[in-house]
Amino acid sequence: MKIESFAYKNGSLEWQGASVRQLAAEYGTPLYVYSEAAILDRIARLRSAFGSRRAGIYYSVKANSNLSVLRIISGAGCGADIVSGGELFRCLKAGLTPEKIVFSGVGKSADEIRYAINTGILFLSVESPAELEAIGKIAQEMGKTARISVRVNPDVDPKTHPYISTGLKENKFGISHREVVSIYKLAASLPGIQPTGLGFHIGSQITDLSAFKEAGQIAVRLVNAVRAEGINLHHLDVGGGLGISYLDEKAPAPEEYARQIIDSVGLPDLELMFDPGRSIVGNSGILVSRLLYLKGAEAARDAKGASIQRADDANSPKTFYICDAGMNDLLRPSLYDAYHHVYSDPERPLSGFGDLVGPVCESGDFFAKDRAMPAFKAGDLAVLASAGAYGFTMASNYNSRPRPAEVLIRSDGRAEIVRKRESFEDLIRGE
Ligand code: LLP
Repeated sequence: MKIESFAYKNGSLEWQGASVRQLAAEYGTPLYVYSEAAILDRIARLRSAFGSRRAGIYYSVKANSNLSVLRIISGAGCGADIVSGGELFRCLKAGLTPEKIVFSGVGKSADEIRYAINTGILFLSVESPAELEAIGKIAQEMGKTARISVRVNPDVDPKTHPYISTGLKENKFGISHREVVSIYKLAASLPGIQPTGLGFHIGSQITDLSAFKEAGQIAVRLVNAVRAEGINLHHLDVGGGLGISYLDEKAPAPEEYARQIIDSVGLPDLELMFDPGRSIVGNSGILVSRLLYLKGAEAARDAKGASIQRADDANSPKTFYICDAGMNDLLRPSLYDAYHHVYSDPERPLSGFGDLVGPVCESGDFFAKDRAMPAFKAGDLAVLASAGAYGFTMASNYNSRPRPAEVLIRSDGRAEIVRKRESFEDLIRGE
């Protein structure tokens, strides 16, 4: 995906057929750019991967919650997986129907539970006995019934970064598979509760599919055990987590992913659903920044036209490529040591070497470390690939930096601003 979407035309970078240089000139930097065609393409591929078995897509809103992105996803017939009242609010604003919204997360507040029940969402995912009782109590007070689905923690290793691994017993998520049957019995006994399904989500950026299979098998065993107690479950939510290619990781094909799930689940009367985030929007977005300064070896070389020095030469100062985007705009490299591929505009030979960093006052403010780089010059664009998921949604105002603008390239090639760049006034609103 990443590879096909980028191309140089006469030395100028194009992404998804659009000139990155023109977008930067028109909308400024740092700038998030998304592609409607790419989003729709990913959805179509995921959907067709399940073939006749069919599985409902409940897009994980936390990956990218821009209203225009949500409208595209909803227009393509997907539902939404949310984790907060704020995400519910966004989904409703974007026109999603409540019956297509599911609510996950270990710490839903009473207000959020009330909001969800009142809205009439499809179900709340339950992650502890205490939460189940709270939901039951609130539903009863409201004179309503809350549909719930228990999230099981299957204790399988998704072999991903520890911060985004969620299905091991040391993780805070879900209910131990050992307690699942008893919690359904409790659920069935509570007046405000109607159990409708079971689910799991074992982690994110998973490229080894065997964990999905293992979790699927455990879930099906549990569904059978719960059904044996006379409690009917209609659906199984297999979570999100399908990995994408950031560098040269072999991202599993959606068809392989679907095959693993279908094979492990069986039970044709069980409605399948899943909540992908990254695999829909990750490679459907980029972050465009501008190189402000070069510092160190290559700055010296640039000035004197001297021969290239490398950071691995102990005597040479390291090169820092300083751009106008920071960790507040894209946190993934700082938080997970995540790789985002860097493209230059204009096209430059890959003869540079060093760190691509931002202006934020933290040494953790980097996008790339000790990496071969395009031989950037100040004023070039530095484009971070695969930034459509967990980019803007994790952005902050740290260092009192207004958050970037977001632009969407429509399927017909038109670019449209879908979120204004924040102003200084936005920074102090409410203070
Ligand atoms: N379902 C649930 C219940 C989740 O918690 C998540 C993500 C997903 C679905 C979607 O997973 P995906 O398909 O996107 O892998 N900020 C991190 C990722 C955190 C994922 C949290 N949960 C990152 O930038 O890598």
